[in-house]
Amino acid sequence: MRIAIASDHAGFDQKAELIPYLQELGHEVIDLGPASAERVDYPDYAVLVCKAVTNGEADRGVLVCGTGIGMSIAANKMAGIRAANVILPEFADLARRHNDANVITLSGRYVTLDVNKQILKVFLVAQFEGGRHALRIGKIMELDEAGKKAHVDGPQVTPLRDTLAERINAKLDEKLGSLS
Ligand code: RB5
Repeated sequence: MRIAIASDHAGFDQKAELIPYLQELGHEVIDLGPASAERVDYPDYAVLVCKAVTNGEADRGVLVCGTGIGMSIAANKMAGIRAANVILPEFADLARRHNDANVITLSGRYVTLDVNKQILKVFLVAQFEGGRHALRIGKIMELDEAGKKAHVDGPQVTPLRDTLAERINAKLDEKLGSLS
């Protein structure tokens, strides 16, 4: 299989070890970076791997960050991607058999290299079962279209808690406002 792989700085060391492991298993590996452990933003690398999967350059994608969570959130924003954040080999098997996951996201900080190797091995051999699962996957893929049409009021980001300085400034504004 052709496997596109990328990481951020937190997943860089494991990516370096997983590439030769995948090659030993007989896969062709496309390393989409980064080339060093310098700090980077994981969405930039999630996009590269997901594009390789959706345009057919790769059969599967592998993304490694600190937890695997950020990579999976970013990857699942891409149409055509079904990314599974996996920390147990059993879940890698189910992610293929039931969810037809085409991208796997791994934790480089909380899961050992040995376990991640087992997870990848399982992920690359397990086959989608189809049947009732195919109907559900169809419904998931329809969400790509629904997402494109969704009305978005603004950036859907949790607002940061006011800092103390902001609260003091607000109080001062209130007081000065009442004086004027
Ligand atoms: C980077 O510090 C870390 O936030 C990232 O690797 C990942 O774990 C995010 O989900």
